[in-house]
Amino acid sequence: MTTRRLRVLAVSALKGGVGKTTTAVNLAAAAARAGRRTLLVDADPQGSVGTSLGLSPEARGLAAWLAKDAAFDASVVRAARENLDVLPAGERLLHVEDLYREKGPEKRRTRLAKRFEALDDEGYEVVVLDCPPAASLLLENIYHLAGELILPAKLDFLSLPALEKTRLFAKEANALREKPIRVDGVLPTFYDLRTAVSTELLETLRERFTKILSPIRINVALAEAPSVGKTIFEFDGSSRGAVDYALLAEDLKLA
Ligand SMILES: Nc1ncnc2c1ncn2[C@@H]1O[C@H](COP(=O)(O)OP(=O)(O)OP(=O)(O)O)[C@@H](O)[C@H]1O
Ligand SMILES: [Mg+2]
Repeated sequence: MTTRRLRVLAVSALKGGVGKTTTAVNLAAAAARAGRRTLLVDADPQGSVGTSLGLSPEARGLAAWLAKDAAFDASVVRAARENLDVLPAGERLLHVEDLYREKGPEKRRTRLAKRFEALDDEGYEVVVLDCPPAASLLLENIYHLAGELILPAKLDFLSLPALEKTRLFAKEANALREKPIRVDGVLPTFYDLRTAVSTELLETLRERFTKILSPIRINVALAEAPSVGKTIFEFDGSSRGAVDYALLAEDLKLA
């Protein structure tokens, strides 16, 4: 028996382009750099995590593992970085849902959590899941598995309705869980100190949501790093992005 506490964090928003992948990659990297044995899971069929870290696309990934076509060992990329294993999306993630759509509602929803039970011996301390931007059976599976939720919200006017949608999705998932998923907080992203819109929206978020995480400023290095397959800490450790994600990781007690 082990007393180790595994934290499973899902980075999710029912909206595209708000910084989910950037957050998942850099938070996982921060945890790994702090010496925590970390697994980063790309649960978005777009497969951006692998590309962001410069991994070659041949690994079978989550798709094959979830479909029971491959063992975890053959699906995961070991030591993508020190202390960091990565489970890429895999080529067929979009189609995996079809394989178990005919199963009963309980089985359908708990498939991912069931597969994770087999990972007890891997010794992970932190699992970070990068989520797809739209509601799906896969996302229901993630909300069933995860212990904590981070909700990135890009500071523009379309964020609020998307946040409400995400909150509702979590509420529905909670109704089917033993213990409710813990919302770590809303994460303001693309924070631009020069614009009034950004500041006003941050104020609105603070009024509407109790937990607001330490914001991520808009920073060109965050957009450049994945294009050369690097985390923000590898790309430019003194950039605003690196500073903000390091702070966030501390805020979340991951580093
Ligand atoms: N704080 C930031 N400042 C500047 N650019 C950013 C920032 N965060 C993310 N980006 C860039 O914005 C784009 C969208 O970010 P990202 O891919 O993380 O969003 P996403 O929510 O995962 O999108 P999708 O819904 O398509 O998966 C990317 O090109 C990323 O590099
Ligand atoms: Mg993404």
